[in-house]
Formats: sequence, structure tokens, C-alpha cells
Amino acid sequence: MNRKELFLRACRGQAVPRLPVWMMRQAGRYLPEYRAIRATRPFLEVCKTPELALEISLQPFRRLGVDAVIVFSDILIPAEAMGMKLELGDAGPNLPEPVRSEADIDKLRLFDAEADTGFLMEAIRMIAREVGPNVPVLGFAGAPWTLACYMVEGRTKEGFTTVKALMYERPRAFERMLKKIAQATIGYLKAQIAAGATAVQLFDTWCGELGLEDYEAFALPAVREIIAGIGGAVPVLYYTKASHHLLAAAGRSGADVLSVDWRIDLQQARATLGPGIALQGNVDPAVLFGPVETIQTVTTEAAQALGGVGHILNLGHGILQGTPVESAQLFVETGQRVEFAETTSAVPSR
Ligand code: CP3
Repeated sequence: MNRKELFLRACRGQAVPRLPVWMMRQAGRYLPEYRAIRATRPFLEVCKTPELALEISLQPFRRLGVDAVIVFSDILIPAEAMGMKLELGDAGPNLPEPVRSEADIDKLRLFDAEADTGFLMEAIRMIAREVGPNVPVLGFAGAPWTLACYMVEGRTKEGFTTVKALMYERPRAFERMLKKIAQATIGYLKAQIAAGATAVQLFDTWCGELGLEDYEAFALPAVREIIAGIGGAVPVLYYTKASHHLLAAAGRSGADVLSVDWRIDLQQARATLGPGIALQGNVDPAVLFGPVETIQTVTTEAAQALGGVGHILNLGHGILQGTPVESAQLFVETGQRVEFAETTSAVPSR
């Protein structure tokens, strides 16, 4: 079974002989070959140069043998395409003219994905051509709430007070902002799919900052709108962080795969959500700073947790800067080595 078949079977909730394994933020700063490119080129320039994005996307595939190639880009690229100023410096992202008023929300543009972010589509086409039909290529976008956090806060997100103030003071306007982001994201992801993405992931890194009621009122409907808008063209993976209190609600996003962090027990998540949604995760990326035996034990336990049914092995959040490359390698190899007997008692396919 090739990597793409493994990945798609896992997305559909089916059993696999071994889990597909990849790492969020796998293309990045822990790799010396990435740092070598970044030493001479600014981050946004790299994102906007398809040849460089191609090269960086392939680096973890070549070096670690991961089972999926995620295109090198950033969740903030659409914020710029919607008309905002964006700086991605060494101190992290900065939006120097953040959204603060209804007029700012009205100014946000529903951009044309091919015309305004064609560099990303070109990178995806090049990756798909390079890896061929047997390797899944992943597109992605930020989920509207998480993107809105950056667009409203600008730089720091301490307490998320600015974005929450906007949400509480002008709930209808904030809803309109999330809807606008959702509509822009539908076109953005559809273009990625047309360019050759096998599946797409929505990153909702900051959903856990919301209580259940606000999550259900604001963040979740915008995610559901995107997933409905994609209309089942390819599997959608939905990443949530610190989402224990949101788990059942996040399970209603419409995503094929819910990606969870290490705070959530995979077996409990399966028990809560049932077999209709696959799971992705969930090794703590900090474990890769631990000793060999710990990495092997934790990874093997995570890989075995769901018996090989509807499970993509990943970290619970992006790989951290400074992670030893050998530890990343060990995570991937250990996960790929866990085998499952062919079983017909698996969950019925959806
Ligand atoms: O997964 C991949 O390898 C694809 C590339 C990718 C990047 N960012 C590259 C990147 C993806 C999928 C992202 C998503 C992203 N970006 C998220 C969601 C996932 C998460 O980690 O929570 C978020 C919140 C961002 C916003 C962002 N971009 C931050 C906070 C930062 C700076 C701090 C950091 O964690 O690196 C970035 C910059 C960024 N995006 C870098 C990379 C490789 C580092 C830039 C550099 O210095 O070279």
C-alpha cells in the first residue's frame, strides 16, 4: 500500500497495516538545510518563491521519510491577500495595522486565490509533480478564529483581550469578519485542491482560548462553513489545540479527521466521538527533547492507541525549534514500524 493510499484510508476511518506519519511544521527551523536557505532569504520571500517552497517542502520527506508532504507556507499568507500589511520577522508574525473597527472589517478583501496567491498553487503543482501519484500532498489554511486572533491582535496575543473585546463588543461585526475569512478560505483551499492537494488541514491553534459557548457561537460555524464549502472534494483535517472542553463540538465540524494534542487521550476521544471521525496526533513535541527510550515508548503507545483504525500519527502541535533531527527521525521511524494485523473487523468505511 503506497503512502497516499495509507493516508486516504486513515482519513476515511479505515484500518491500515501501519499508520501514516508526518509532523506539523515539519518543514522548518530544526532542519539545517532549511536554516541554510533562510540564512540568505527572508521568510515571506521564500513563501512566495515556488522553487524555494518546493525545496523546503521536500526536505523533511527526503531526510525523514515522512508519509505526507505539507506545502511550505504560513497561515498568515491569506491575511496579506485580504489586504493587511504582514511582516514575518525573527520575532514571529506582526501585522502592524491590525483590524480594530467595523471599517477595518469592511476593507478586508475576498481575494482571488490564483491571481493573488498563485505562488502557493504553483508550489503545490511542483510538489505534486515531483513526488508523483503515490505520496499525499497537503494544503492548509488557518481556521477563521485563529486567523482573526492574529489579524486583530497584531503582534502579541496576551490574554487575547483585543480580539475577545471585539467579539464581545461587536458580535455581529466579528461574525461578519469570521464569515469573510471563511469565504476567502474556501476559494483559497479549492485552488490548492485544484493544484493537486490530496487533503487540506485547517489549523485552529487558538480555539482552546474560547469557552464552549463562544466556540460554538463564533469559531465553529466558520469552520463548518469552510468544510461545507469544500464539499467533500478531498478529506479535511481539523487541528485543535487545548480543546478538551470543545471535543464533542469540534467533532461536529464536518472534518474527516480531528487532530488533537497530547492533553487528550486518543482512546477517550474515540469513545467520545465514535468511529465516524478519524483522529490525528498526538505526541507532545517536547517529548522529542527527551531520551531515545522515552521517544520510542511514547511514540509506540500513541501509534497503538487506536489499533490502526482511522488514525494518522502526528505530533500534538508543530515540531519545536531546536528539536534534534535524530529525534524527529526516531519519531517517524518508530511510528512507521508499528504494524497492525489486517483486520476485517474494522469500522465500516464512510
Ligand atoms: O507544516 C509545515 O511544515 C508547513 C509550513 C507551516 C509554517 N507555518 C511555516 C513557518 C505551517 C503549516 C504553519 C502554520 C502556522 N503558522 C500556524 C498554525 C500551526 C501552529 O504551529 O500553531 C501558526 C499559528 C502560524 C503563525 C506563525 N508563523 C508563527 C507563530 C510563526 C513564528 C514562530 C514559529 O513558531 O515559528 C510563524 C513563522 C513560521 N511559519 C516559520 C515557519 C517555518 C518560522 C519562520 C522562520 O524563522 O524561518
